[in-house]
Amino acid sequence: MKQPINATPYPQDTHRIHILDSEAVFEARADLNLLVAMEKARAQGIGIGCRGGGCGKCRIRVLKGEYDSKRMSRAWVSEADEAEGIVLACRIFPRSELVVESEMLPLAEPYQPRSSSKLQSAAIK
Ligand code: FES
Repeated sequence: MKQPINATPYPQDTHRIHILDSEAVFEARADLNLLVAMEKARAQGIGIGCRGGGCGKCRIRVLKGEYDSKRMSRAWVSEADEAEGIVLACRIFPRSELVVESEMLPLAEPYQPRSSSKLQSAAIK
């Protein structure tokens, strides 16, 4: 599963990704996070939101394979979750073939970018 960050991968290194929910299969560059790689491949199956680890929409469970990761927001992924392979797709980088499935949390309200929330708050006052 999660591996310590190694030397910077070569951009030409690619790994096959399987998303069980959508049955999507695509090649992902090792230097791109999994969410960006999915978008570049025009594949679907992982929720797309902020792309920066802040909204939780890209939460997935890695069922098989190796990856490096950046720090996860504990608002969306607990330490126990992370130990079970639950991660944010926008924060992981494939290091082998991966098999993943969506692990979205029920959100109380749809995600809105922070700037939009501020604008709405300002409009309400
Ligand atoms: S897209 Fe928002 S946390 Fe990944």
